[in-house]
Amino acid sequence: ISLKEYNTFGIDAKARFFVEITGLAQLQKVLELKAYPEKFILSGGSNILLTKDIDALVMNLKLKGISIVEENDETVEIKVMAGENWHQLVLWTLEHDFGGLENLSLIPGNVGTAPIQNIGAYGVELKDVFVSCAAMDMKTGELVGFEKEDCQFGYRDSIFKNDAKGKYIITSVNLRLTKKNHNLQTGYGAIEAQLKENNIVYPTIQDISNAVIAIRQSKLPDPKKIGNSGSFFKNPIVSKKKFDKFRKANPEAPFYEVDENEYKIPAGWLIEQCGFKGKRFADAGVHEKQALVLVNHGNATGKEILYLAKNIQEEVKKKFGIKIQPEVNLIK
Ligand code: EPU
Repeated sequence: ISLKEYNTFGIDAKARFFVEITGLAQLQKVLELKAYPEKFILSGGSNILLTKDIDALVMNLKLKGISIVEENDETVEIKVMAGENWHQLVLWTLEHDFGGLENLSLIPGNVGTAPIQNIGAYGVELKDVFVSCAAMDMKTGELVGFEKEDCQFGYRDSIFKNDAKGKYIITSVNLRLTKKNHNLQTGYGAIEAQLKENNIVYPTIQDISNAVIAIRQSKLPDPKKIGNSGSFFKNPIVSKKKFDKFRKANPEAPFYEVDENEYKIPAGWLIEQCGFKGKRFADAGVHEKQALVLVNHGNATGKEILYLAKNIQEEVKKKFGIKIQPEVNLIK
């Protein structure tokens, strides 16, 4: 079957075999199937670039459910099954006035993949609310628990991208949220500007979510209308020495200090400086409002997007001497 509807890039790659997974017992059984030695896990499909057909049994994770595990006057711990849509979860927390996810509004994808890259936006990362997750060992079918320390969260990074890569299927995620005294993160310039524009002095979590949604809608393309996977590259982190040299040559460049020895430079800016913003090569393109986002204007193949990405990497390297790395999971 075609996977076009199952990846937000809208790439028309085919799956040899396909199964929807709706329960843990079923997941265990499917993992045991010897007839299909190769298995490929597909969740929300919002962070992958398919560059070829998948000659495997594609397992589409549809595990559903949100429940409260524990609560007191101040906080609540919820357990969310991996197949829940991330933004639907954010809306659910807003309805209950549970705080913590408002800055992460409108991020595409499902809950189960959020820990893999420690999703983050507007000053908040998943790790700020993460308690633990459960994952199935793909070899033994056993359920294993990962506490926060086990996950080795970093910027767009976790153990699931490193030592544990390809070994587990995350089946549920537990998060701790606030019931009162919400810890509002309004420091991000664009959020402040949005709140000011709407004359909001004492924002609620709903106000922050609305602000984030407005910002995202103004510069990030809606995958339902134009295929994309959000930021295609990570923002490069460079040493102080390299940064000083870069800053001297580019005093106008935006940057964030990670710590006294490391600086993060927005890849979107670097790419825009190389002249790629809004450019289009057949159906593969660079978004006109945010150069960090590669888009599929309709019928681009994964290979065409990949070719464009390589081209961008080379030009950035040539112009700035900085290597930018994909954030999206490349299936090659
Ligand atoms: N910029 C440009 N040109 C561009 C894009 C950006 O000059 O085409 C400049 C902006 O002017 C700004 C700076 O780069 O000074 C940063 O831009 P922005 O605030 O849009 O954020 P970003 O660094 O490009 C990161 C995340 C986004 C997240 C935002 C907000 C990464 C790889 N991306 O983007 O995450 O929403 O910050 O927190 O860290 C995603 O991962 O898919 C994603 C969208």
